[in-house]
Amino acid sequence: MERLKWRSFLLGLLLPLVALSANAPPTGEMLVTDIYQGLGNVPRGSIKELRIVQIFPKSTRLANAPRIGIAGEENAQAILGTVPVEADGSARFLVPAHKPILFQALDAEGCAYQTMRATTCVQPGENTSCVGCHEHRMSAPAQTNGVPLAMQRAPSRIKPGELGGRPFSYVEVVQPVLDRHCLRCHSNTKIEKGIELSGEPEKGFTRSYWSLCGDTNMVPRFAQRNQVQATPSGGQSGALGSRLLKMLRAGHNNVKLKPGELRRLAAWLDCNAVCYGTFDPALQSDQLNGERIPMPEIQ
Ligand code: HEC
Ligand code: HEC
Repeated sequence: MERLKWRSFLLGLLLPLVALSANAPPTGEMLVTDIYQGLGNVPRGSIKELRIVQIFPKSTRLANAPRIGIAGEENAQAILGTVPVEADGSARFLVPAHKPILFQALDAEGCAYQTMRATTCVQPGENTSCVGCHEHRMSAPAQTNGVPLAMQRAPSRIKPGELGGRPFSYVEVVQPVLDRHCLRCHSNTKIEKGIELSGEPEKGFTRSYWSLCGDTNMVPRFAQRNQVQATPSGGQSGALGSRLLKMLRAGHNNVKLKPGELRRLAAWLDCNAVCYGTFDPALQSDQLNGERIPMPEIQ
């Protein structure tokens, strides 16, 4: 009798879990054995996390209408979040199946030393691995000193953080930082150096977006139809190469940004400085108003 009770008690606990996992979106598992391979001369220990970005399939007819960002002819994207990289450069994590994703190797401040612009994808239950950023597809992992640290633990789940899990939006991610720290010298009657940083809509984006993107050293990006087939490592085409970030880190006119605020700017710069995370004009205007929008139906 006592035993029966226990059995139904345990079943009562287990069944909802089974039901939950049956409804959970399917995942696959990925292993990076050593992130430093293919990263150039980035010192060991610099990379702390991988940012995982999902790219949405283009669902509108014209290449550059509606526009996603200033670079032109881009796909909308969502930061899904980050996973940890171990001290030996290994990472092991679960990713959503059937979704085109790419990786960014981030330092402690959230700046990417390398971005993968191509995408990859897993089937439900698939396990796959790669070496760093990365090995030639015909080569095998280099001999290591034993089992990678990330293989000695369970796979990480993606941590969405402040910015992850929804379509990217410049107004949501970047504009609050500008509102807090820059408007007193860069809006209304006082517009230092002609740089206006308000979130007022202008020509499809915002005034601040046009001001910051006016100079490609300030905000570097890969332009449409560029012929750069393999992203050079070192992060110079994103946050690490951006004069804006260098200027603000150096303490531009005594402006002091918190680490989280700098991370927001870095995330934007590493995502090719896009403005919108959707191809739908109505949803783009929601994002322009600072609203968060759901993930798209077609992914
Ligand atoms: C942050 C660095 C980085 C990481 C980590 C990374 N990649 Fe890449 N990947 C690249 C770069 C750089 C390219 C070259 C194309 C480009 O610039 O996007 C690339 C290209 C690819 C391509 C396209 C290859 C082709 O011939 O078109 C595939 C597939 C790919 N990676 C799969 C993976 C897999 C699988 C993993 C690990 C689970 C992985 N990548 C991890 C940087 C990275
Ligand atoms: C206390 C006033 C003040 C604040 C606050 C301020 N700026 Fe500036 N900004 C200036 C002045 C003055 C200049 C022109 C001289 C210079 O470059 O320092 C300038 C210039 C700039 C430039 C052009 C630099 C160049 O070399 O072309 C940019 C971009 C800029 N600011 C961005 C920002 C951002 C982003 C913020 C907020 C995070 C900000 N500023 C906050 C006063 C300010």
